[in-house]
Amino acid sequence: MMIRRLKKLKRFKSLKYSKDEFKALSGLWRVDRIILDTLNFKELTHEVVNTILTELDYLKLGYQIIVLTLVNKKKDIVERISISKTKSAATALRETPIPFKKIEIPLSANNNLLVRAVRSKKIYFTHDLSDVLYPQANREIWRQIQKACEIKTSMIYPIIAKGEALGAMIFSLSKGADEVGKYEKEILAGFTNAVGIAVENASLYQRLKKTNKRLKEVSAFKDELVSFTSHELRTPLTGISGSLSTILEGYAGKVSPKLKEFIEGSHNESMRLLRLVNNLLNISRIEAGRLKYELLDFDLNLTIEETIEGLKKQAEEKKLQVDYFASEKVMVKADQEKVREIIINLVGNAIKFTDNGGISLSVFNQGKAVVVAVEDTGRGVLPEDQPKLFKKFERGQGGKTSKKKGGTGLGLYICQNLLKGMGGDIWLRSEHGQGSTFYFVLPLGE
Ligand SMILES: Nc1ncnc2c1ncn2[C@@H]1O[C@H](COP(=O)(O)OP(=O)(O)OP(=O)(O)O)[C@@H](O)[C@H]1O
Ligand SMILES: [Mg+2]
Repeated sequence: MMIRRLKKLKRFKSLKYSKDEFKALSGLWRVDRIILDTLNFKELTHEVVNTILTELDYLKLGYQIIVLTLVNKKKDIVERISISKTKSAATALRETPIPFKKIEIPLSANNNLLVRAVRSKKIYFTHDLSDVLYPQANREIWRQIQKACEIKTSMIYPIIAKGEALGAMIFSLSKGADEVGKYEKEILAGFTNAVGIAVENASLYQRLKKTNKRLKEVSAFKDELVSFTSHELRTPLTGISGSLSTILEGYAGKVSPKLKEFIEGSHNESMRLLRLVNNLLNISRIEAGRLKYELLDFDLNLTIEETIEGLKKQAEEKKLQVDYFASEKVMVKADQEKVREIIINLVGNAIKFTDNGGISLSVFNQGKAVVVAVEDTGRGVLPEDQPKLFKKFERGQGGKTSKKKGGTGLGLYICQNLLKGMGGDIWLRSEHGQGSTFYFVLPLGE
């Protein structure tokens, strides 16, 4: 294997290039560089056409004009994209009765050589420039221009990428077709192939950019929509649940046991909906980076006590106890409202996923941080679910069991984001069937 490679290398080294061949190769290399570096379509097409001429010093070989044309599928035409910056090209542009960019050849023009090259994917030669321009203007005008530019031959090379003809290059020369060497033709074919890749790359990139822009717009619209609807839903929902709880408390007269049962059901459902709307609002703010934190020093001890008070009723309904063994004052530096939200989510989960036993909260001081543990005696979390739980819409256990319990899988994702935003963190320890403990940490306050 090694010996074969060495032999190959030797053969390669012993290759001798003529000056023109060497220039042609370095020109090809330059075109390759342009292809790799330029993704802007317009810039690329201009660069490519001029590089072929200048780098190869092809003017000396009689190359007067190079034109790049591409198929426009929407319009069913072959259109002019760019032209070399040569003296002859300037003459042609001055003399032409139709502006360069307006020269459009319908793909149905069977007697046009450009169209034929594109359709058959074959190379064509002609001594009559009007063959590539007809039926635009009349043949005589193009023949006069050909004379003024001293063009003898025009060669049409189709640009092919992935088996499809994207357009064609027109090389117009001041020498006869028989004077174009075999090697020269190969180089031209090489160039045209490179142009094919370049055009394909550039248009793919352009399309990607467009799609990306559109996606961003759609995503921004979605965020706006979620944020707007959540806002609008929150107000009436708060009103509904407020009124229901007023009725339950007896302010609107005596409530019969049957009625109480129905109203309690409606109240629970409206609270559930309110929590969902709040979650959605939080998510849209998190994703848009619009969540603001008011970091102040406050007593975490008191905050926990107040917050779990509102959750105890929910626990009692499942005959669960919520214990919190309050210690002395524990100051943290955080956003109090967001800390409340985290406690509601974690204790809410503990209640939801526990059927026997209870929930207990504890606080530890750990140097510069404070750790809160929310422990339950519930079903626990499967080991394979544990790393996934903090992801958006993740409900563990393949989403099956949680479905019955209700929930969107957003609570822990929100908790994690809120904690990160306050310089904290969250994690869990659980053994399936043996309960779970969720820990979160906050910076110590003063
Ligand atoms: N204390 C817990 N015990 C057992 N499993 C839990 C506990 N807390 C969370 N999980 C699991 O993690 C999943 C994700 O919890 P998360 O709070 O993000 O969503 P959810 O409670 O299903 O819905 P949402 O909070 O949006 O109403 C839950 O569906 C559940 O499978
Ligand atoms: Mg939850």
